[in-house]
Amino acid sequence: MRGFLLLFLAQTVLSLAYLPASPLLARVGPLRSTPASPEFVRAELARKQAEYESARAKRSLAETSSTSAPIPALSSLPKLPYLNSTGLLTPIPTTPRVRASVFAVFDARGGLRFVGQSRDVQQSLRMMLGRRPAETHQVAVHHIEKPSRDLLDTVRRAWIEEAGGEVPGNDGGAEQALWEQALDVNKLMTEEDRQSVVDGRNISKLKEESAIKAICRRYEDEKSAVLKERGCTEPVRFCPKLKGQGLLDLWVKKTKDVVPGGAPGGGKPKPKRGGGVK
Ligand SMILES: *[C@@H]1O[C@H](CO)[C@@H](O)[C@H](O)[C@H]1NC(C)=O
Ligand SMILES: *[C@@H]1O[C@H](CO)[C@@H](O)[C@H](O)[C@H]1NC(C)=O
Repeated sequence: MRGFLLLFLAQTVLSLAYLPASPLLARVGPLRSTPASPEFVRAELARKQAEYESARAKRSLAETSSTSAPIPALSSLPKLPYLNSTGLLTPIPTTPRVRASVFAVFDARGGLRFVGQSRDVQQSLRMMLGRRPAETHQVAVHHIEKPSRDLLDTVRRAWIEEAGGEVPGNDGGAEQALWEQALDVNKLMTEEDRQSVVDGRNISKLKEESAIKAICRRYEDEKSAVLKERGCTEPVRFCPKLKGQGLLDLWVKKTKDVVPGGAPGGGKPKPKRGGGVK
């Protein structure tokens, strides 16, 4: 009996290995290659992945519809000024239970420019003030206490739909990168800029870095001028370390749950702000 079983198993394995047209394999679809080939393995992996994703999507839909508050329409939320009357970043009201937020940023005319999501909305708003100083005039926030990636995405998508389906800062391309990433000055260099970097490189690493920093400062000055014109008194500082790499982004204080020294700037602690500002 045992011997028979072994023989049967061996035959099955052989048929799998040598007979790609075997009906046993028909379920995998119109695969032309041999079962043990990389294509076969990839196809199997893709199938498993798809099964997993579909199950996960069903689960999260169930969670979303059963346990969470309804998604508020963007138009139903108050629009807060990005900067308050003293020119400081408006503190977004929150509670300790809030774990993540979806937020919408509006320009001076009230046009929706970007919908984002964050685990630290105050920090994100600060970053975006530095990235888009001219486009950040009002903000609407929806807090979530039990966030999942799917729930955050659902709110974001709903708001984008509500706005007519197209929000400039959510174009999935260059405009979105301006909101979500440091400004990459390397891509904006003129011929002259490039030459100054090459010249610096020829002398020393340090000279090259200072040439790149000088180019960054041009863009930094533009941003600072916009903020000044808006009456912004928020102390903003662009990260010097990033500037050396041709990247322009604000230096931000590490949040509590981040290991000290792990922030993008990796810099020294920020000097204490005076004037009773917490
Ligand atoms: C503006 O916001 C700051 C916090 O960023 C706060 O300390 C200050 O009191 C606010 N000013 C007014 C007038 O609300
Ligand atoms: C680098 O410097 C050397 C002299 O130190 C010079 O001969 C060379 O042309 C320079 N190269 C560039 C790319 O400027």
